[in-house]
Amino acid sequence: MRGEHGPNGEADEADARSENEATELRARLIDSIARREHPWGRASWEPRVLDAMRRVPRHKFVERASVAAAYTDEPYPIGLGQTISQPTVVALMTNALMLTGSERVLELGTGSGYHAAVLAELVRELYTIELVEPLGLAAMARLAALNVTNVHLRIGDGYAGWPEEAPFDRILLTAAPPELPSALAEQLVEGGLLVAPVGADQQLLVRYTKHGQALAAERLGAVRFVPMVSRPPC
Ligand SMILES: C[S@@+](CC[C@H](N)C(=O)[O-])C[C@H]1O[C@@H](n2cnc3c(N)ncnc32)[C@H](O)[C@@H]1O
Repeated sequence: MRGEHGPNGEADEADARSENEATELRARLIDSIARREHPWGRASWEPRVLDAMRRVPRHKFVERASVAAAYTDEPYPIGLGQTISQPTVVALMTNALMLTGSERVLELGTGSGYHAAVLAELVRELYTIELVEPLGLAAMARLAALNVTNVHLRIGDGYAGWPEEAPFDRILLTAAPPELPSALAEQLVEGGLLVAPVGADQQLLVRYTKHGQALAAERLGAVRFVPMVSRPPC
């Protein structure tokens, strides 16, 4: 006899305990980010961004991590030499996109799919490209399991962007190219924003605004991302 909860009762209770713990740890993590001074001059935390991060279960994107590890403010390995970004960095980059909710957005570097899930809460449609097929397929499965319906995922090289779906209101890179790929500016609307870590040894997070054929660059701060490459690791 396993008791009144039936054969799966204990497992269900353990799952519920772990979900409650995850919700509590997530709230604590986002509260701690919100209390911190925004590092970039006069910018302040956008409440919509932090609310979206309160809703998205980061632990579902790092199955190999404990729930406690999923809610530390650190990057975490997701396999094949790649990482899920640090929550503070996800908040800063999403903030920098200045989203209002109506945008069509392109993300390059889906990784675990976590940042895509946060963006999906904040935009109309998200298009995301991942170079490494097993990572892209796993991200797709996670987003489907969470019933995220406004994310369109493609496996391929983000250097070319997604011309069939262009133009985009915003473009976000979550891997660092040595310099900005030329195809991307053409896929941005007039007045659109592109946020990217750029550089090889030393990287800077830069926000570009499109004015006619030119991009005005605003340096946001030093960052450390995996490189944007053209071929997946063997
Ligand atoms: C820091 S991880 C992204 C983290 C991700 N946004 C998340 O929430 O987990 C960078 C990702 O960019 C991918 N990547 C690198 N070069 C790429 C390229 N040319 N096109 C598309 N994705 C690329 C890597 O495979 C990796 O998954």
